[in-house]
Amino acid sequence: MTIQAPEQITINKENSVSYPASAKFFHWAIALIILLNLITGVILVNFYSLSKQLNLFIIHEQCGVTVLMLAILRLIWRLSHKYPSLDGLIAKHEILLAKFGHLLLYALMFAIPICGILLSQSSGKHPGLLWFQLPTLIERDLDLREQLFNLHKYLAILITTIVAGHVIAALKHHFIDKNQILTHMLPWSKNK
Ligand code: HEM
Ligand code: HEM
Repeated sequence: MTIQAPEQITINKENSVSYPASAKFFHWAIALIILLNLITGVILVNFYSLSKQLNLFIIHEQCGVTVLMLAILRLIWRLSHKYPSLDGLIAKHEILLAKFGHLLLYALMFAIPICGILLSQSSGKHPGLLWFQLPTLIERDLDLREQLFNLHKYLAILITTIVAGHVIAALKHHFIDKNQILTHMLPWSKNK
């Protein structure tokens, strides 16, 4: 038996749950840029001369502001569309855990770039995206910079931990539970 849920969503007894193409675009574009920024961030802090040679700060800043812009569009998209439900595919406590993890990931998609922008402004820089400059929210303040630097670092550690749990859960769905959740989130899977 196949139950057709409204809009682009399909749930059937083979544990099939299709993610719309826009959901996949937002998911993978943001995931890739965040992973890139975690790497460039660590290089920025630990390998100063390499960062200068590669202009890493500009790359880190532009990618980070892009994450913020995409996260705003993603949230609007997410709140205005129906989304595949995990009901009946995995245990209730796993659904709750997944929802909590997703909520935290959404919060961090906003919190990390905003903290980065404030960190940059507290050093007297004026970050933006391409030719658009962001509004200056704080003036140069080196004491505040220290605190924002630590906050930015701890938030980056937190997202790394949650993403690690998220990936383990996705692999468990695939290899142990043998359901289609991961397959249907992959960019090359067909939108049924
Ligand atoms: C998703 C977005 C972002 C992620 C995942 C991220 C991640 C990181 C990480 C992991 C570090 C190194 C922390 C450490 O090891 O102590 C870092 C440093 C830094 N980030 Fe970000 N960041 C993001 C966005 C931004 C944005 C938007 C800006 C500014 C516009 C920014 C500005 C900085 C600055 C100024 C540093 C310190 C560099 C230094 O003092 O040498 N970040 N970031
Ligand atoms: C920085 C990296 C990542 C972030 C921020 C992230 C965030 C999210 C969020 C917020 C959702 C909830 C659905 C939505 O609103 O679109 C989700 C779903 C999902 N993610 Fe990720 N993700 C990341 C990396 C990954 C990776 C590397 C994998 C694969 C191993 C993965 C696999 C999945 C799957 C299979 C789902 C659907 C599961 C469900 O709906 O519960 N994600 N992700």
